[in-house]
Amino acid sequence: MARRAVKTIDQNLDLSQVFKKPEELSTPWSSETIFERLAPLELEIGSGKGLFLSRVADQFPEHNFIGIEIGQKYARFSAARLYNRKNHNAIIVCGDAAKILHDQIPDNFLAAVHVYFPDPWWKRAHRKRRILRLEVLRLIERRLQPNGTFHFWTDVEEYFLSTLELLASNSPLMGPFEVPEKEAEHDFDYRTHFERRTRLHGEKVYRAIFRKPLIRD
Ligand SMILES: C[S@@+](CC[C@H](N)C(=O)[O-])C[C@H]1O[C@@H](n2cnc3c(N)ncnc32)[C@H](O)[C@@H]1O
Repeated sequence: MARRAVKTIDQNLDLSQVFKKPEELSTPWSSETIFERLAPLELEIGSGKGLFLSRVADQFPEHNFIGIEIGQKYARFSAARLYNRKNHNAIIVCGDAAKILHDQIPDNFLAAVHVYFPDPWWKRAHRKRRILRLEVLRLIERRLQPNGTFHFWTDVEEYFLSTLELLASNSPLMGPFEVPEKEAEHDFDYRTHFERRTRLHGEKVYRAIFRKPLIRD
């Protein structure tokens, strides 16, 4: 499905509290320095227009949320959703999630990692550009806390099955656990924009959750 252009956000809006470049955050990340409080931190990779992030940040004020989005226009659009909220528990970082996971996020740190509808890179020769390639899946597993969860949804069956296979042969994560489809109660009652578009087109969504074991074998 082709992607619709995102609206440009007013350049005068001061998004500095919710839109960050990787170098503006401490290395390694620490919840106290980023949010000035200790709370479980959930990471979303590839936030797009930020529907998931803005909704869960309101639903779970006791958690902190960071979305990483590489596209500047999308990152600003998502940040504008987070701007002016009562709770200061969510920010967008504009950068490459693979590099940030590698360079800035400590091991056993994240309560959850969410990846929804990652770019499929259809051509076989381009598949090494996928965000859920083996080296990044290994990083996700290491950065999750014991008992932390990894959530992966896509509309691309081949991407789904090959990721499940990669995890089964290379990772101690437990799963996949199935996620039942939920009836939408209103027009934006979807996890992300891509889920909304996929379901409104009558196409299938593949969903899985994995959990990091408490003790590694
Ligand atoms: C197909 S869109 C899905 C957006 C959103 N998750 C949704 O479901 O509506 C994939 C998003 O991942 C972002 N992305 C791709 N590679 C990335 C990377 N290495 N780091 C962070 N974001 C990335 C893209 O810019 C794009 O916004």
